[in-house]
Amino acid sequence: MEVGVLGAGTMGAGIAQVAAQAGHQVNLIDVNADALKRAKASMEKIFNRLVEKGKYSAEEAEIILDRINYSGDRNDFQNCGLIIEAIVENLEVKHKMFKQMESIVSDDCILASNTSSLSVASIGSVLENPSRMIGIHFFNPAPLMPLVEIIPAVQTSEAVTKEARAIIDSWKKVTVLAKDTPGFIVNRVARPFYGEALRIYEEGVADFATIDWAMTELGGFRMGPFTLMDYIGNDINYTVTETVFKSFYYDPRYKPSFTQKRHAEAGYLGRKSGRGYFDYAEGAVKPEPVKDEVLGRKILNRILAMLINEAVDALFLNIASKEDIDLAMTKGVNYPKGLLAWMEEIGEENVLNQLQELFEEYGEDRYRPSPLLKRMVREK
Ligand code: NAI
Repeated sequence: MEVGVLGAGTMGAGIAQVAAQAGHQVNLIDVNADALKRAKASMEKIFNRLVEKGKYSAEEAEIILDRINYSGDRNDFQNCGLIIEAIVENLEVKHKMFKQMESIVSDDCILASNTSSLSVASIGSVLENPSRMIGIHFFNPAPLMPLVEIIPAVQTSEAVTKEARAIIDSWKKVTVLAKDTPGFIVNRVARPFYGEALRIYEEGVADFATIDWAMTELGGFRMGPFTLMDYIGNDINYTVTETVFKSFYYDPRYKPSFTQKRHAEAGYLGRKSGRGYFDYAEGAVKPEPVKDEVLGRKILNRILAMLINEAVDALFLNIASKEDIDLAMTKGVNYPKGLLAWMEEIGEENVLNQLQELFEEYGEDRYRPSPLLKRMVREK
């Protein structure tokens, strides 16, 4: 089957690589000739490295590279069985493209979007046959991150959902099924990792380095929240939070942080600008954390309780199955354990107590325990 990818930026190029490695002829199409050139050059570099590392022979690499057709002509999508759109995150532009693509492809071609923040239902609404529309959400970098969220919209047919999932499974990705709601699974459930860490800092409980130390050393997370936000970029991470907050009709649980906003406004974007919460200039000395275990546990327990509450609430609202929620967080953002499994380890009542203490102390809706968590404790 031929695969189409619209948009040869960060995500589109990565998705094209994955599809070509899985054996498909790929049409990678972009309006910007420079973007195509960049994608081609970076693809060649990646495969040179994979050959050096012994992952492929030079012949194999060439065969894979030859499968990708870089083009500016959307008519090249004509014979595709699946097209994944990864262009700018703008509903109007996406609408225009989806309408055009539908007029080019055959009736049974699946049309998918890699959107992070728009609803799949809204993108598919312009199609003559919206039952062929689905969300297929990769994580950055697409060739390395195993997780892909499959998001059927209200219009999507069951057959399309099944087929899309089977295709992505055959690309050796870990697929999870998520409801078409803001942030899907990962970008929703992960919010407190950043938000609660920022709040703890704002209250003056601990500095960036100490919060990161607590989460990595005591919690086993691969990166602390501030190091991770610097890696993602404070501008991008802030925008995701703000979008999720607005999309949830301003639920205080997702309220963005002034600290992050000011960092983004100041141009302290993180690694890419040389400075974020930490300084990445040459010779800069990383601040030492306060390695106080009592303080560290307090920080970890507070952030973890908020994360678990978010995961439980996603389960409560049928955003995804228990298994898929845990898989999403371990395979999409490398959490050391699934949050629901972690809850069972800590004890549901301990998580609930922690949240109730926070709720009582602050009186903020942000700390309200999920009804399902309360039910779990009651029925235990
Ligand atoms: P990007 O800015 O790196 O690439 C977008 C590409 O689309 C550019 O090369 C641009 O020239 C091209 N483009 C724009 N309009 C076009 C059109 N009408 N026809 C053909 N090509 C067009 O963007 P990125 O980061 O790759 O994001 C793309 C999509 O993937 C967005 O919907 C975003 O929300 C989503 N996404 C992004 C992730 C990330 O970490 N960057 C992660 C998961 C999803």
